[in-house]
Amino acid sequence: MPHIMITGGAGYIGSHTCVQLLNAGYDIIIADNFSNSKPEVVEKIERISDKKVKLYEADMRDFEKVCEIFGENEIEAVIHFAGLKAVGESCENPLEYYHNNICGTIELLRAMKKYSCKKIVFSSSATVYGTDNPVPYIEHYPTSATNPYGYSKVAIERILIDLAAADSEWGVCLLRYFNPIGADESGLIGEEPSGIPNNLFPYIARVAIDKLSHLNVFGDDYDTPDGTGIRDYIHVVDLAKGHLNALDYVLKNTGTQAVNLGTGKGTSVLELVAAFEKASGKKIEYKIAPRRAGDIAVCYADTKKAKQILNWQAESDIDKMCTDGWRFISA
Ligand code: NAD
Ligand code: UD1
Repeated sequence: MPHIMITGGAGYIGSHTCVQLLNAGYDIIIADNFSNSKPEVVEKIERISDKKVKLYEADMRDFEKVCEIFGENEIEAVIHFAGLKAVGESCENPLEYYHNNICGTIELLRAMKKYSCKKIVFSSSATVYGTDNPVPYIEHYPTSATNPYGYSKVAIERILIDLAAADSEWGVCLLRYFNPIGADESGLIGEEPSGIPNNLFPYIARVAIDKLSHLNVFGDDYDTPDGTGIRDYIHVVDLAKGHLNALDYVLKNTGTQAVNLGTGKGTSVLELVAAFEKASGKKIEYKIAPRRAGDIAVCYADTKKAKQILNWQAESDIDKMCTDGWRFISA
């Protein structure tokens, strides 16, 4: 029976994608080293979907272990989430980030090649558009980065493009995520950052549950209608569903495609605060703080290619993202 292997499947986006894959009838294998997640998440995935999941505790850098998974199973394709994702941490510890993200991907690809599994969907990021492209971001724009995390995504995209150019049997989809927020409607799985969150939504959530006193709004002097930064927030369940379309695409096609997964709509920091207040009934205290280094004013996706080649588009609005996110956090 063919399986889909999900690396990093116990993480935030991976767990939501596993639920969608199981609901759609796929048999899946999760491979995760639990460096940023817990095995309990896998039980929750099984509870939500009422299906069984095959689980391997494995580090993608461990070639022998990854080969063992391929040897014991018939794996048709891989969805590759496993990676480290904190920008600040990547600047403090670049070697760890390059080793984990790039070497982990290379060892995975070597094992895939050995077992003739040549279909992969990769978790890239809107961060590869760098700071110089105009919005909305279109897939053919040049890529660049400003930090080791971003460079690791640019490098992995390059590796996959070169691999598919050298061997025409590979089918590769580079999914460039915009800003995933929210949670599964069950309230059982969601984003659980350890320590003080860096990203806006989990930070607002900590303020709502009184773990943090107030939000620092990083800049109110951007060239935007209310002066605060604008991002393309996307419901994590919509994002997860996009992976099913991308999987279908790579199973039927060869070559490499980069595709944005975003809504195409921008929301400012203060608009997100207001939507969260409405969804939660909590007042979110905030203070205006200086701009954060490396931030851009506005970032949102051009969504035409996702519609055209994947037949996918996001459905949920910002209110539903906040309602579903709050259900998970408040539970
Ligand atoms: P996450 O940290 O919740 O999930 C990543 C999972 O991969 C975790 O379960 C972790 O334990 C596992 N992992 C890490 N290194 C591993 C390794 N070497 N071997 C095996 N497992 C390993 O992160 P997420 O938010 O679900 O992100 C998933 C992917 O999407 C990452 O590659 C991330 O860079 C990318 N991405 C995320 C966002 C976002 O805002 N969350 C945006 C753009 C791209
Ligand atoms: C950040 C990363 C980016 C990564 C993305 C998703 C940086 C510089 N960029 O992007 O590489 O791909 O997360 O993981 O870290 N904000 C506040 N107060 C806060 C937190 C954020 O005002 O406490 C503002 C930011 O200035 C920004 C918006 O909220 O305007 C969204 O921030 P965030 O959630 O960190 O996402 P990105 O900036 O898009």
